[in-house]
Amino acid sequence: MNKSATILLAILGLILSQPALAQQGTSRVQTLRGADAAATDQAPPERSYTGKSPGSQKPVARTFSTQPPVIPHAIEGFDEVTLQNNPCLACHGPENYKNVRAPKVADSHFKDRDGKMLAEVSAARYQCRSCHVPQADAKPLVGNTFKGDVATAPRKK
Ligand code: HEC
Ligand code: HEC
Repeated sequence: MNKSATILLAILGLILSQPALAQQGTSRVQTLRGADAAATDQAPPERSYTGKSPGSQKPVARTFSTQPPVIPHAIEGFDEVTLQNNPCLACHGPENYKNVRAPKVADSHFKDRDGKMLAEVSAARYQCRSCHVPQADAKPLVGNTFKGDVATAPRKK
């Protein structure tokens, strides 16, 4: 068979397989919201975070070595993080962590974006909860078979 005939056959095959693919697609696609786009969204039930006040629980095992550890304690009732006040740093910052027996913020949190060590926690780390999240006891929305590397990798500082 010459080259152009092979290409032609390949294109024909592609065209013929299209409708079957499209059909399969529509019957299989499932959104979390469901098929009826006009239906009013149901708000998920409100859940409170697991964990009691800080100081009474073990850290949650990490899944992969560079993961920001999740927050094992409750965070309800803490003040908002503002320019003047950061309740997380009040316990996890270098000044106080020993007194309240909290894990100190990681050394990486003192580096600026150029890798230079600063005297205090970098502004880039000020909004702790953009990386560290509290936990709720809820069923995962989608399945997940991710296997982390934390069992073998050394913990990074
Ligand atoms: C009153 C002190 C206190 C405050 C406020 C506090 N923490 Fe904690 N945190 C702790 C203690 C103590 C632990 C150790 C686990 C425990 O006993 O609950 C901890 C554990 C953690 C851990 C787990 C670290 C690891 O290695 O697994 C993270 C992450 C964390 N806190 C983040 C935060 C963030 C973010 C905030 C602000 C929203 C916050 N904490 C506010 C005291 C505090
Ligand atoms: C940009 C994402 C990010 C932000 C923002 C951030 N962290 Fe982290 N944090 C991490 C990661 C990633 C780790 C684990 C790797 C490491 O040690 O750097 C970590 C580790 C920690 C640990 C565990 C330290 C240890 O020795 O095991 C504590 C405690 C912590 N962070 C507290 C905080 C607090 C408090 C804030 C806010 C002032 C904060 N982090 C802001 C990403 C972040």
